[in-house]
Amino acid sequence: MASDKSKIIIDNKEIELPVTKGTIGPSAIDIRNLNKENIYTFDPGYLSTASCSSAITYVDGDGGELLYRGYPIEQLSEKCDFLDVSYLLFYGELPTSKQKEVYQSTINGHTLIHDQLNSVFRGFRRDAHPMAVMTGVVASMSAFYFDEMDVDNRKHRKLSAERLIAKLPTIGAWSYTYSLGLPFVYPQNDLGYAGNFLNMMFSSPNKKYQNNPVLTQALEKILILHADHEQNASTSTVRLVGSSGANPYACIAAGIASLWGPAHGGANEATLKMLAEMKNESRIGDYIKRAKDKDDDFRLMGFGHRVYRNKDPRAEIMKITCHEVLNELNLSNEPLFKLALALEKIALEDEYFVEKKLYPNVDFYSGIVMRALGIPNSMFTAVFAIARTAGWVSHWNEMLSDKENKIGRPRQVYTGQTKRNL
Ligand code: CMC
Repeated sequence: MASDKSKIIIDNKEIELPVTKGTIGPSAIDIRNLNKENIYTFDPGYLSTASCSSAITYVDGDGGELLYRGYPIEQLSEKCDFLDVSYLLFYGELPTSKQKEVYQSTINGHTLIHDQLNSVFRGFRRDAHPMAVMTGVVASMSAFYFDEMDVDNRKHRKLSAERLIAKLPTIGAWSYTYSLGLPFVYPQNDLGYAGNFLNMMFSSPNKKYQNNPVLTQALEKILILHADHEQNASTSTVRLVGSSGANPYACIAAGIASLWGPAHGGANEATLKMLAEMKNESRIGDYIKRAKDKDDDFRLMGFGHRVYRNKDPRAEIMKITCHEVLNELNLSNEPLFKLALALEKIALEDEYFVEKKLYPNVDFYSGIVMRALGIPNSMFTAVFAIARTAGWVSHWNEMLSDKENKIGRPRQVYTGQTKRNL
């Protein structure tokens, strides 16, 4: 990383601070030594803080650009499958055909989960949310795969990452079938990553699931688009937990817990919930009115983005996929999907939404696609977690490979009582 200098003046004292420059994007003032001057920076929510340097993903919010290891998301979603992308995120380059063959077979070798993990599932109530079950089961993997869990060992880190990428679809699908009281369907490696997940979700001993290439491809795209998004809440959580040397399964379980929050991975579920409440097109106007009302906390779910202010490149890709899936399944005239498309149209034309640049985001379209695929709302965030595991393990590995890695330990501005006596 290139470096420059900046100066700040505190109590008339001039302090020189280096400026760290990345390859693209904003630079950062390196304040690591500022605490020696007995002063901290204050940035709750990390709006202006780069918590680390990373070579994995680049997001340009104003330009509407998302790059994984330098490759635009549009090209990756067009030409690659999810395993190519997970390999790229972890290793930094797309696999050659030979490397892909080896990687595919390695992942295939880990898709089953330890048979005794079945009893962990059975400890949960049947009506537990799949994300609760996934958080618990993934955390408990550290009690099953502790043989090679030395986080300072590169080979162990690679193995843990492969285990997690391979097993998450099985754990995700089983957390759903368990809730239905249906038997667990074992992975079938010849179906591919997305196809295997759909098969574990929807087939049962008395009913074969017919994979439809358009639908499988749509899910593969959802996984690619959600695989990483640099230092979001869940990825930062994984890094912070991992910075203490915690085991990989504990780190990813923490990431899943963070993702579960409605302000993060829960937006696609919230979109479908909103559409269900809206019921029909005649009520769109009321919802739009509420969204515009300053005295009403209500926001139109699936619209707007904290980082992408002009366009969300993932939403543009998912929009096309959404229309392909609805056409394939002849669903465009089904009430819920008709309502979603009407809302999309009205919001795209409405002055308030146009002026504030509130476009439908990736979660608006991915929620509709998943619903069309038959995936229930409660599983939307679980699918997101399966995808994001590829990003989480890559960030975790990158952090532990960095010699400058330190345990994360933010400071605070204390606002409590000053010292007092009893
Ligand atoms: N509906 C109505 N008004 C909105 C919405 C919305 N969905 N989003 C933003 N606004 C308004 C907001 O009230 C504000 O108005 P004003 O300038 O008059 O005060 C203006 O637009 C700017 O909003 P903001 O609060 O500065 O935007 P933010 O960066 O804090 O919030 C957001 C971004 C995504 C949290 C927000 O747009 C939102 O709550 N959207 C709905 C939930 C959602 O779909 N979230 C998923 C985002 S994609 C997830 C991912 O990438 O992982």
